[in-house]
Amino acid sequence: MKLTVIGTGYVGLVSGVCFSDLGNEVVCVDKLSEKIELLQQGEVPIYEPGLKELIQKNTEAGRLSFTTDLSEAVQHADIIILAVGTPSLANGEADLTYILGAAQEIALSIKGPKIIMTKSTVPVGTNEKIENQFKQLSVHPVAVASVPEFLREGSAVRDTMNPDRIVVGTESEAARQRIEELHRPLTDQILFTDVRSAEMIKYASNAFLATKISFINEIANICEKVGADVTMVAEGMGYDKRIGSSFLKAGIGYGGSCFPKDTQALIQIAGHVDYEFKLLKSVVEVNRDQRYNVIRKLETILDDLSGKSIAVWGLAFKPETDDVRDSPAFEIIASLLHCGASVKAYDPIATPNFRKLLDHSKVEYCSSAQEAAQNADALCVLTEWSEFRAVSPAMIQAWLRRPNLIDGRNMYSEEELANTELIYYSVGRPNMN
Ligand code: UGA
Repeated sequence: MKLTVIGTGYVGLVSGVCFSDLGNEVVCVDKLSEKIELLQQGEVPIYEPGLKELIQKNTEAGRLSFTTDLSEAVQHADIIILAVGTPSLANGEADLTYILGAAQEIALSIKGPKIIMTKSTVPVGTNEKIENQFKQLSVHPVAVASVPEFLREGSAVRDTMNPDRIVVGTESEAARQRIEELHRPLTDQILFTDVRSAEMIKYASNAFLATKISFINEIANICEKVGADVTMVAEGMGYDKRIGSSFLKAGIGYGGSCFPKDTQALIQIAGHVDYEFKLLKSVVEVNRDQRYNVIRKLETILDDLSGKSIAVWGLAFKPETDDVRDSPAFEIIASLLHCGASVKAYDPIATPNFRKLLDHSKVEYCSSAQEAAQNADALCVLTEWSEFRAVSPAMIQAWLRRPNLIDGRNMYSEEELANTELIYYSVGRPNMN
């Protein structure tokens, strides 16, 4: 099949590359010429395991190419995939400027009938707006389908190649058949819906996962007070198939480019139809507050943070990515600075991106975990990189000036801590030392 993907962010790039690996001819388009030049040279603008190899393989095989020329690229395609960003506006609503702009450009360029497959996360009703735009601007018939994306950063290639399900929302039988053909090699679990339901499935899924995280974080906060262990509680809950074990890891709250944005957008979508989504509002509030538990725990141990040197391990919003968008590390470090502390921070790959967000005289970006921890008054672990797991708590104690460890991701076990004198606080587990 011939595909053109508009937008080379996480969703567009990974989908385009994976579809080419399935044998389709794929052209990926982006307005940013530096990004396209990088991709043409076989380089990848984001860190994503396995992606670079697949780009090289499929470019060499002649199935995958990159261009800034949208109007030419769309001629080539049977299916045009919309995968441009829908960032948050100041009020939390999704900004549709890019997606409607791209649709307009396509409408003005196409010279024949096309299938438009929207993978961007868009509020309910957006695909109808896109369809109307085509009707107004082009004489060529288009069939619009909403096919939301469920990949996760850090495991994007694996998720795309092994999806739990594909959701296809369209009124067009022709689009339905072609899109089914495209996805059949990936899974048999293809759900066909109307367009609005497909759009809603994406928001409802992310909101539900965010709810699970805030739920377990609140259970963790109660566990700390009643002397229970949230990891055991989550395990015990997770064996119940109706609950499931995933997304029950307590921590410092969710971050990233999706959950914070999509929960806010769904609250706004509900608000537009005069519905107050009270549960989701609480999920967002709990998530915001969860980050500050790190500061509260530090204050319990150190009393006054002013003048203290605090080490931070992990700046990315989760491991295996260099993405720092809405990373809890940002607010935590900003609070430390506000309290008068200085910070020594380390992340295996996300430091350059984080430094762009926060360049401050009191934040020293270090080139190793040891350098950050050396002589600090306390260490906070904010991202569960395996590199950190590999460091023994005894080693951490040897590096620190004072033996204080705040583990925001429940990385270390009781056995590992047994032979140390670390003052150790994790999330929702009894104090182990
Ligand atoms: C999320 C969804 O999981 C994907 O299905 C969806 O396609 C994507 O958003 C999107 O809308 O594009 P992603 O943001 O890449 O994917 O990352 P997740 O693995 O879902 O993690 C999100 C945040 O939740 C991270 O900060 C992570 O640390 C946190 N989390 C996750 C927890 O605190 N506890 C958990 O048990 C799981």
